[in-house]
Amino acid sequence: MAAQAPGRVNLIGDHIDYNDGLVLPMAIDRYTVIVGSSKTDGDFQFYLPDRDDFFSSSDLRLDDNHPDWAKYILGVLKQLELGGSSMPPLQAAIVSNVPIGAGLSSSAALAVATATLAEQLAGLALTPMEKARLCQRAEHESVGVPCGIMDQASAVLCQRDSILELDCQNKEFRHLPFSPDGLGILITNSMIQHSLADGTYAARRDECQRCASQLGIQSWRDLDPVKFEQISGNLPENLARRGQHIVTEISRARQASRAIEAGQWTRLGKLMVESHESLRDQFQVSCPELDLLVDFTSALPGVLGSRMTGAGFGGCTVSLIKLSERPYIEQAITTKFHAATGIKPDMFVSPPAEGAKAMNV
Ligand code: GLA
Repeated sequence: MAAQAPGRVNLIGDHIDYNDGLVLPMAIDRYTVIVGSSKTDGDFQFYLPDRDDFFSSSDLRLDDNHPDWAKYILGVLKQLELGGSSMPPLQAAIVSNVPIGAGLSSSAALAVATATLAEQLAGLALTPMEKARLCQRAEHESVGVPCGIMDQASAVLCQRDSILELDCQNKEFRHLPFSPDGLGILITNSMIQHSLADGTYAARRDECQRCASQLGIQSWRDLDPVKFEQISGNLPENLARRGQHIVTEISRARQASRAIEAGQWTRLGKLMVESHESLRDQFQVSCPELDLLVDFTSALPGVLGSRMTGAGFGGCTVSLIKLSERPYIEQAITTKFHAATGIKPDMFVSPPAEGAKAMNV
């Protein structure tokens, strides 16, 4: 049996999934595929043919010495077991073309692909949100990253030619049709790798919680930018900045959703640029390479907007561009970025792709 799950890129709404915000991701046409079968006895065995990396374990216990990729797989199986499903040993091989450490959710793709295969092997039918939450718990407990729900939900729920609008407060979602005439989504990899497990992500999440408790709010949805301005005067500077990003990004994501529905692409591009500025100056999760990419990209004719996407500190930018200008845009970004940093960025255009599914093999 086999299953696949996609990476994702977030158009707008970063670092607000764990702050009750609204996010607008889409799946990209880069996938993790897992092929496997269950066995009656023996070890759990996993193989990455691309890296010739093999891992086996007699049980689902986690160990710090396990390779990270195996922690995601075992973590998902462990969560299924904790949920009452009996998990017979299985053997599986995994291949992926989702770039790793690039902020495109390669880890959520692996977790969701594993859960989708395990569902078939164990004859389970999780609801989409159950599956996303299970994969999120696996990441929290097995890898130690306190991520929000966006990446796992995108890998499960996204649909072809639409942007997922996910309300992370009540977990309701809609699919916003997205096939703007002549426009496309360009993803540019700064090639600066960032791991969510290095503590910076957890530190930001912690600051957001401290900020909310100092303001005495139950949810960031209780505030809008005006109300925040009125009550944030006594916050320490770093917390004031974090809060400022959260309330304005929630508002921008809502406006972006309306812009997509109305086909207002210039407006969407402008909101993307504002989002980058806020992530750079208020949430402080950008890095010089991402800032250069956004500056170079947004200054080019044919670009409607550009921003860092995902957790930050490296990874990718996402840009809304006129496809007729794509060769020129890619050439100009590559030349300028290489001259400034010595790095050759990787670039691709992706349509909004489909979420996880079982595959017939
Ligand atoms: C990572 C996390 C997500 C989200 C983004 C930032 O991708 O896994 O939950 O918080 O960062 O928007």
